[in-house]
Amino acid sequence: MGPGATGAFRGSSPRASTAVGHDGGVPAYADFAKFYDQIMGDRNPVIERVRGYVRRYLPDAGSLLELGCGTGAVLAGLADGLQVTGIDLSPQMLAAATAHLPGVRLVRADITEFSLGARFDVVICVFDTLNHLPTFDAWLAMFGRVDAHLAESGLFIFDVNTVGRLRRLAAAPAYVEDFGPHTLVMDVATSEGGVFPWDVRIFERVEGNQFRLHHELIGELGVPLARIHDALTPRFELLEATDTHGRPANDESDRAYFVYRHRTASSEEAPGG
Ligand SMILES: C[S@@+](CC[C@H](N)C(=O)[O-])C[C@H]1O[C@@H](n2cnc3c(N)ncnc32)[C@H](O)[C@@H]1O
Repeated sequence: MGPGATGAFRGSSPRASTAVGHDGGVPAYADFAKFYDQIMGDRNPVIERVRGYVRRYLPDAGSLLELGCGTGAVLAGLADGLQVTGIDLSPQMLAAATAHLPGVRLVRADITEFSLGARFDVVICVFDTLNHLPTFDAWLAMFGRVDAHLAESGLFIFDVNTVGRLRRLAAAPAYVEDFGPHTLVMDVATSEGGVFPWDVRIFERVEGNQFRLHHELIGELGVPLARIHDALTPRFELLEATDTHGRPANDESDRAYFVYRHRTASSEEAPGG
């Protein structure tokens, strides 16, 4: 997720509220799903970024797995020339992905625990999906799953919101945006044990000045980049770690994009693979 410009909310009072919290620490994205693509807008920048990394570092790649594929908008942009697979925990997000990606393998699973019985040339996890895992142990579990599902010399491409960015968002006023007839209000609060709560409210205009409120709380864990790198180094070789503008990423960058190469396929076989 990523707020851009700010504006002012002038909507009428909401009539109803649906509070959706966490499912074992995992955001459900239940209400968010139906608005997600409208809110996130053009996904070409991230699609082109991933395509560029694959062209540069593994031009012969044939298969790609996205962890936390959401509505499948990014996967849809990568499906030309790659056999794509997606995993997500939210049934609502996966339902949208199924509509985007007929015939594509989409699996409902937790990205810290899945076993697909296959290895992939490229594994991606983008748009701060990794930050959604609420503990560093969960990040380590996810890295272990990547290790078990990535082909030898395969690419692991992911991004994170940095600690610096999450702190800046927490200090800033709420982000407000009108999209179509509806309004989004996102407010990031100060971290509790490293997890920054994102309070996401969507005011769905149902008629005239009447709105239905959809409310989700999404936690994002901030982790120093050096800690991420230290955890990955034994199994992965760093190819690049850059910010949005291609400069070396640091803990004050807005977003950090990592590209790692799998050193060797781990001795643990992907089940059935
Ligand atoms: C910010 S969205 C990104 C979606 C997609 N990657 C994109 O760029 O549009 C994060 C997604 O991660 C999923 N997610 C969060 N935690 C998860 C977990 N533990 N296992 C599987 N999916 C998870 C959410 O359901 C949501 O669809």
